This record gives sequence, C-alpha cells and structure tokens, in this order.
Amino acid sequence: MGIITVITSGKGGAGKSTVAAGLGCALAHLGRKVVLLDGDAGLRSLDIMLGISERAVYDMSDIFEGNCEPIRAVYQSPVNERVSVVPAPVSLEKMCSPVDMARLCRGFAKYYDHVIVDCPAGIGQGFECAIAGANRALVVTTPDMISARDAQIVGRILDRRNIPARLVINRLRPMPIITGKMPDVDEIIDIASLQLIGIIPEDEEVAIANANGRPLPVRSNAAICFSNIARRFLGEQVPLANLEKMI
Ligand SMILES: Nc1ncnc2c1ncn2[C@@H]1O[C@H](COP(=O)(O)OP(=O)(O)OP(=O)(O)O)[C@@H](O)[C@H]1O
Ligand SMILES: [Mg+2]
Repeated sequence: MGIITVITSGKGGAGKSTVAAGLGCALAHLGRKVVLLDGDAGLRSLDIMLGISERAVYDMSDIFEGNCEPIRAVYQSPVNERVSVVPAPVSLEKMCSPVDMARLCRGFAKYYDHVIVDCPAGIGQGFECAIAGANRALVVTTPDMISARDAQIVGRILDRRNIPARLVINRLRPMPIITGKMPDVDEIIDIASLQLIGIIPEDEEVAIANANGRPLPVRSNAAICFSNIARRFLGEQVPLANLEKMI
C-alpha cells in the first residue's frame, strides 16, 4: 500500500499546491510512482503546475459520478513521467464527501507509492475531504506569524485525528529576518508547534515553473530543497543545508 499524504496550511496562498507538486516531483526523481489528487474544488491549480490542463477532460467528480473509469481521470504529467494528476472538480457543488475521498485515496494507494492530496485553504468541508484518507500530513506556512498560527491550528486538528504532521516553511527570504523585520525560522517553528521537515526559499524559478507547467531546474535552490524534503519524508537523515537556513 502506498502512503497517503495531505498537504495543508490553513491559510490560503501559503504554497500548498507548490509543495504538493514539488514533493511529488522530488519523490518521482527518487524512483517513486506518485499520483496527486487536486482537492481544491472550484479553484484547481495542479493541472497548470504539472502541465496537464489542456489535456484534462475528466476530473475527480467524474470518478465519483461514475462518468468514467478512475484511470480516465488520471493524467500523466509531462513534467515527470512518474507523476500523475487527478484534476479537481470544476465546481464546489461537485465536491465529494470525506467517505468518497478516503475510498478514492485507498484505491489509488494500491497502485502508487505515494498519493498526495492538495488541500484547499481553510478548515471547512474541503479540508475535511482532503484529510479524510490521509495517513500523513505536511503543513505549509510562510515565514509570518499569521500563517504560522494557522499552521498551529491545523496541526492541532490533525493531531486530534491521529494524522502525524510535519512543517514546511515556504517562501523564506533572508533579508527581512536579518533586519529583524520578520520572525526567524526558530520562532516560526515555535508558533506552528510542529516538527520541521524542510524549508523552501522564495525563488522565482518556482513561480516560473508553476505558471508554465515546467520542471524546476534541477540545480535551482528550490529543487534542492524539495529533494531534501523528499529524502527526509522517506526517512533519511538529511541535515538542513545552509541554503535552507538562508545563511
Ligand atoms: N517558494 C516560492 N517562491 C516563489 N513563488 C512561490 C513559492 N511558493 C509559492 N509561490 C507562488 O505563490 C503563489 C501561491 O502558491 P500556491 O498556489 O502553491 O499556494 P496555495 O497554498 O496552494 O494557495 P491556495 O490556498 O489558493 O490553494 C503561486 O503563484 C506560486 O507560484
Ligand atoms: Mg492551492
């Protein structure tokens, strides 16, 4: 059985979809077969980030409504041949129930090493669906107090559901930390109260790759950080690189 991981944050725009795509591709580079489920009904983004938006005919709601075999709504990404995507339903009305979602995740986990669910913002019904089948979670925060506090709230909910969660700090920029204008990494970890799995710097390569459905350049800072996160996720001891500490 594959591992089912939900990528969540509480706060919108923290980088959940970016981390879902980046982790998925990094795991694929390590030889794992990955399927990403876009759980953001009405506001899908993984289809663009992973370059399948023009080919996508069916989406997750078609699976639930019996309009197609599940495999017809799975699209192999041109970004990495070991990564596939199931697009989110186009409208909120077509959102599934948590029970449906858990069943779908378990079904995919028979065929893939990793099922990664990209969670919508907030802690409403979409969140409940996205976490329903998960046996692990990554909580994404940006390096600011508000995002970190939302990560803490989400972390508590996940804890109550017995879903082990780790923290990703995304969009780290050294200058506001050095000048004391923003909290440093230790403060963010304290507020979020979650164990850190890795840090992704603010990197324009990320925005470019996301917007164009292209892979991150292998030697980009962000790609190295995603690779480190993927290796830690698989249980390897990988010390924080200077790059991740931004020093
Ligand atoms: N490390 C980064 N460096 C530069 N740009 C980034 C980085 N992470 C995310 N972005 C950009 O920030 C925007 C928001 O990221 P993303 O869509 O992944 O957030 P999200 O948490 O999934 O948002 P939502 O809550 O709306 O689902 C995107 O345009 C993305 O390209
Ligand atoms: Mg998103």
